[in-house]
Amino acid sequence: MKIQSITRMLTVAAVCSFFAISGYAQKPVVWVAPADAKTVKNPSAGSAESIATGKDLYAKSCKSCHGVKGLGDGPKAATLDVSCNDFTTKEFKAQTDGEIFYKLSNGKDKMPAYKKSIPSDSDRWALVNYIKTLK
Ligand code: HEC
Repeated sequence: MKIQSITRMLTVAAVCSFFAISGYAQKPVVWVAPADAKTVKNPSAGSAESIATGKDLYAKSCKSCHGVKGLGDGPKAATLDVSCNDFTTKEFKAQTDGEIFYKLSNGKDKMPAYKKSIPSDSDRWALVNYIKTLK
């Protein structure tokens, strides 16, 4: 075999494994909420009633993309060119409640903004409280 064809094969293999390892299209995205969102206080942190409300809202509005357990594997996720991210990871859980509240209220690209369709702050905090229980 010629040296050129060996080099070409190795290049193709390297490119393929790069995309396989990086997961290309479904690569988790880094989405940073604005600094002032970080310190916004959760008025209903850990409330069992709020978590129950959040669970219902999640099943209605979020499960289709984020999946039953928040792994980002809902049926709609497969149709998106971006990852829905995984609510059970250490990185996700390292965020403050305020940051999560900001993100689900304001959305980004394929992630809808729920400020209008779920107008009650207390309902959106309920969603924060529920998704934080996902393991
Ligand atoms: C149409 C699909 C879709 C639906 C429905 C949806 N999301 Fe998302 N969500 C996404 C995508 C895609 C992202 C990643 C956005 C990005 O970074 O570009 C995301 C990101 C998020 C994040 C940030 C994740 C992180 O890593 O910080 C939160 C929080 C979130 N969604 C909450 C919700 C909640 C709560 C609901 C329901 C009220 C919901 N989403 C409904 C698609 C969806």
